[in-house]
Amino acid sequence: MVVDKFSPVGVLDSGMGGVSVLRELVALLPSENYIYFGDSANAPYGSRTDEEIIKLSEHAIEGLIADGVKALVIGCNTISAHVAILRKKYENLPIIATEPAVKPAAESFPGGNVVVMATVATLRGKKFDRLMERYKDMAHIVKCPCPGLMDFVERGDIHSDALRAYITERLSSLDGVAMDEINAIVLGCTHYPFVRGMIEEVVGNGVKIFDPAPGIARQLLRRLKSANMLNDSDGNGEITWQNSSPDKKMIELEKNLLTMK
Ligand code: DGL
Repeated sequence: MVVDKFSPVGVLDSGMGGVSVLRELVALLPSENYIYFGDSANAPYGSRTDEEIIKLSEHAIEGLIADGVKALVIGCNTISAHVAILRKKYENLPIIATEPAVKPAAESFPGGNVVVMATVATLRGKKFDRLMERYKDMAHIVKCPCPGLMDFVERGDIHSDALRAYITERLSSLDGVAMDEINAIVLGCTHYPFVRGMIEEVVGNGVKIFDPAPGIARQLLRRLKSANMLNDSDGNGEITWQNSSPDKKMIELEKNLLTMK
């Protein structure tokens, strides 16, 4: 298959979370064509072993390569923890990864309490350890593992009392930090921007929330530009939706999330 500047950009996540990245890509680069692949049949990845996460990601990436993508955006922190292995294996494919926005949060709140909400797998990874190590003298970085939070989004449950209770419980059980001492929250899983409204309701307006998606879009722009692979056609590109779940409503949910503010 010929891969050129008109070829699509692949966007990958364990489920629908990557749509929070896709919406920023579309906003910045509307002429591009995209293939969004959500592996909802195998989600959540965040409670799987590293070996399972790598194997499932490879399977998904090979599907996207077979579909002729010119670049890949990993819209998933859990998969991105293994990006070094994936870049090595698919060396001809430009891969843009996701990383919890610890840097801007720590820089904005020196000496403050920065809480990172993410999956268990992301927070246990070496990549995250290195990130924490780099900014630990700048701010107090607190891990907040949220097993089960992505499932609320996959069910389309983003307003319920059960969700409010879950978030309240997680943010009240932090290591050495009370909820009213939090200065910033880093959304370290791409599913969580869809429950941002509820997080804000729980912690109040005084807490700044960081989402890496706009930065990922700018990075894709830079990579495509430098490779001379920007799609410069007029008008909007197309999005092709793929989901491994046999349940057709997953794709409908993804489409709804794309336009949700
Ligand atoms: N959306 C994913 C992330 O950014 C992972 C959710 C999961 O599969 O557990 O980490």
